[in-house]
Amino acid sequence: MAEGTSAWSPDSWKAKPIKQDVVYDDASELETVLSRVTNMPPLVSSPEIDRLREQLKEVAEGRAFLLQGGDCAESFDYCNPLAIEDKLKVLLQMSLVLIWGMRMPVVRIARMAGQYAKPRSSPFEKLSDGSTIMSYRGDNVNSIDPDNRRPDPQRLLSAYFHSAATVNYVRLLLAAGFADLHKPEAWDLGYVRNKDIRSDYQNIVNRLTDSLKFMGVIGATETSASSLNTIDLYTSHEALLLDYEQALTRPVPKPLENQKKRSSYYEPATPPRVPLAPELCDWYNLSAHFIWIGDRTRQLDGAHIEYFRGVKNPVGVKVGPTMEAEELVRVLDILDPLFESGRVTLITRYGADKIDKFLPAHIAAVQKTEHKPVWCCDPCHGNTTTAPTGHKTRSFDAIMSEITSNMRIHQELGSRLSGIHLELTGEHVTECTGGSQELSHSDLPSNYQTFCDPRLNYEQSLDIAFKIAKDFESERQSSSR
Ligand code: PEP
Ligand code: CO
Repeated sequence: MAEGTSAWSPDSWKAKPIKQDVVYDDASELETVLSRVTNMPPLVSSPEIDRLREQLKEVAEGRAFLLQGGDCAESFDYCNPLAIEDKLKVLLQMSLVLIWGMRMPVVRIARMAGQYAKPRSSPFEKLSDGSTIMSYRGDNVNSIDPDNRRPDPQRLLSAYFHSAATVNYVRLLLAAGFADLHKPEAWDLGYVRNKDIRSDYQNIVNRLTDSLKFMGVIGATETSASSLNTIDLYTSHEALLLDYEQALTRPVPKPLENQKKRSSYYEPATPPRVPLAPELCDWYNLSAHFIWIGDRTRQLDGAHIEYFRGVKNPVGVKVGPTMEAEELVRVLDILDPLFESGRVTLITRYGADKIDKFLPAHIAAVQKTEHKPVWCCDPCHGNTTTAPTGHKTRSFDAIMSEITSNMRIHQELGSRLSGIHLELTGEHVTECTGGSQELSHSDLPSNYQTFCDPRLNYEQSLDIAFKIAKDFESERQSSSR
């Protein structure tokens, strides 16, 4: 039978070959943990997911832009107020700059509150003493501590609780307004070394804060994603550990025939008190609003594609240089059989020196179909290098170059880059080089913290937003000339 045509159920992935699987010593302990997660309350609601689906449709159709960002690997230790506030602040500030530059709403999705599992290029790691241990697979599998690499099922439960605490604090901050964005002094632009660039950025921030104040004075309340009074921030992670994802996949009654949509109040669904016939339900992954498939687990006949095709959440697929154009179309046919705009976000990640070779064929292949995905650029994962100090790093210039090429290639083909996916943190780490702080390889050891891939710091993240906003602004000006 062709992929994606047999009956789907939350566990139908188990009949398919799986990559990056985790093997636990004690299967019965795993079962006990999974049954506890299965009985836990959901972390997000289906109406919230439906709202994101509508917003991603706007993105796919060119009326909004997507900003997705956060840590490569979230650690349980990042579940603390300061780290969460810093990440929220940088994402919100970046989105305001983008809204300003593009004059359109920005949909914000954080890699947060569940981004714990990591695919690895090798299952083993060699230590400097020559011994070999299992690779770190993320805090929900094993510990970063080399002495504690055995996969522990209890970590799945811990991941659930850390996700719940994180999402709870995000909701609390947003409900409280997280108001310091309105004050120019909240923007910390002192880091920009070049005076001309700093005054350029300051000028944007001043105009932005003026318009925010003006909107406050006139009491403007928009209903779009750009509204400050109803800031939406969605959560996301790579749905790698399918046992865990399945445990949080819940049936939600389909809207009645005479209702266009479900009502906006929260609908309990864990589990339905009276079991519903499968044809009366939609299945939602209620661990996050948005989930994506990594570049290493997107095989057409594999377990991950099988799981993803059955959930109502909008889904992402990482697309790297090894993706064939026909394969990409097959992925879309399986995940988006009803041709819904924005159902799939293609997160392309080739590398600055490879994008010209691969992206045009991918865009052309999709243009020949009825699919309308969100085209999102991940300029991070194709641009990872090793510094002379031995640190895994990325250069700001390579990241910016992939973004600029991405925008240009879409434009040349009559398509449009509609989102950006970044590994970033709101903290002042030194993991990537370049940017307005002009960090060099020798600066990396001073505050290198990541457990996995290098992240853009607060300053570099804002730099990216300013640069993209300016590119879009000049594109707008040249097209109106
Ligand atoms: C990631 O996003 O952290 C990741 C592992 O990406 P990719 O699957 O694109 O390599
Ligand atoms: Co990463």
